[in-house]
Amino acid sequence: MKVVHTIDELRDQLRGQLNISFVPTMGNLHEGHLALMKLARQHGDPVVASIFVNRLQFGPNEDFDRYPRTLAADIEKLERDRNVYVLFAPDEREMYPEPQSYRIQGPPDLGDILEGEFRPGFFNGVSTVVMKLFACVQPRVAVFGKKDYQQLMVVRAMCRQFRLPIDVLAHETVRDTDGLALSSRNVYLTPEERSEAPRLYRALNDVARRVSDGEHDLQRLEAEAMAGLEHHGWQVDYFSVRRQRDLKLPTPDEVAAGEPLVVLAAARLGATRLIDNLEIMR
Ligand code: PAJ
Repeated sequence: MKVVHTIDELRDQLRGQLNISFVPTMGNLHEGHLALMKLARQHGDPVVASIFVNRLQFGPNEDFDRYPRTLAADIEKLERDRNVYVLFAPDEREMYPEPQSYRIQGPPDLGDILEGEFRPGFFNGVSTVVMKLFACVQPRVAVFGKKDYQQLMVVRAMCRQFRLPIDVLAHETVRDTDGLALSSRNVYLTPEERSEAPRLYRALNDVARRVSDGEHDLQRLEAEAMAGLEHHGWQVDYFSVRRQRDLKLPTPDEVAAGEPLVVLAAARLGATRLIDNLEIMR
């Protein structure tokens, strides 16, 4: 694997390649990230991964400074898996040598709800860095995880609207054996919080199963799920059943007619904010 830190070196390595598949990350790699690289390997060649903790997508009171940066260990994992041909690991001066005053403004209908409501500007920051990474790498395929369901939809919408010639592939959420979605932020959890954390996935499962079984009072299901989490010390930002196609609230008629739904949640345990979601089978 070649590790490059500058955009010029990256372009040198990739010159003439027309079938690049790309996996952008912020590092502290876990099995979820590695599964994305494996999928990328099946859909293009060469595979390019990036590791860059993108300041633009962090709010002023968020964890940018303490976000885990583990480049040496990440390189070892990628070397062991042998799926990635070039790792692009720029520093901040390389990505933002001058203030990034041109920005991609996420779509208000999709970008300002759920995560966007609780993390204002988040999807602008994500869209801007993903567009810039796409411009540097020029992939034919890019792989994103369903763990960040709304991010996946924002990136797909951006590619569609700007007519970027990139197929965006989605990978299922990779979970620990107890159901907790793998996340770089799980390292923040204390041992007690770590054993509490799978409750979020259990709550999503419970609501998904009850909707599948024909319970259609979504507000009641959401309120019960939130109360259950709060009872165990969680602070819930949102817990909401939405339409898969645009993340808008489904009407009762749509729920009854079998509209594809997804239940999404964000909640804090102590200082750590976790997000997760589940598509509802029915
Ligand atoms: P990061 O959180 O490092 O995630 C990188 C990619 O891995 C994203 O597509 C994310 O959805 C996926 N991923 C994370 N955990 C996963 C899991 N448990 N199962 C499946 N996929 C998982 O998302 C970002 O970085 C950034 O916002 C980025 C897109 C790189 C822009 O800065």
